[in-house]
Amino acid sequence: MEKLFLGCDHAGFALKEVILRTLAELQWPYQDLGCDCAEVSVHYPDYAQRVVRAILAHPGSRGILICGTGLGMSIAANRFAGIRAALCQELYTARMSRLHNDANLLVMGGRIVGSGLAREIVRVWLTTPFEGGRHQERLNLIDPKMPEGH
Ligand code: RB5
Repeated sequence: MEKLFLGCDHAGFALKEVILRTLAELQWPYQDLGCDCAEVSVHYPDYAQRVVRAILAHPGSRGILICGTGLGMSIAANRFAGIRAALCQELYTARMSRLHNDANLLVMGGRIVGSGLAREIVRVWLTTPFEGGRHQERLNLIDPKMPEGH
């Protein structure tokens, strides 16, 4: 169970609370990097960058980011080499993002995905392995200089 870092903005806070409960049930180790409430409007790039920095500092770790749509968080996170942020709002892409893309960041929209579906997406995303092989060759074309484990 690799460590998981979580972040959200105000629009993703309620869904992050649901996901934290799911992780506790699964006994999955995590660190919540904020934000801490839905009432104060914050800037999603700040939280995307917190989680990205934590992932890059802990090889093999992964993360979950939640904003209103998932778009801002995924755009912000994917600007960093070594980050493969996948915006998954249903189960098929959640599964494929692990099998083919070795996604190390799951992004969801708190205003898009209901809590039941989000819990399933997280469970599938956490437990689906990367297939490697030809998919690793393709990832190497995205981040040619990244060391093993990122
Ligand atoms: C905040 O209102 C909203 O813009 C943000 O959560 C996100 O959806 C941006 O992409």
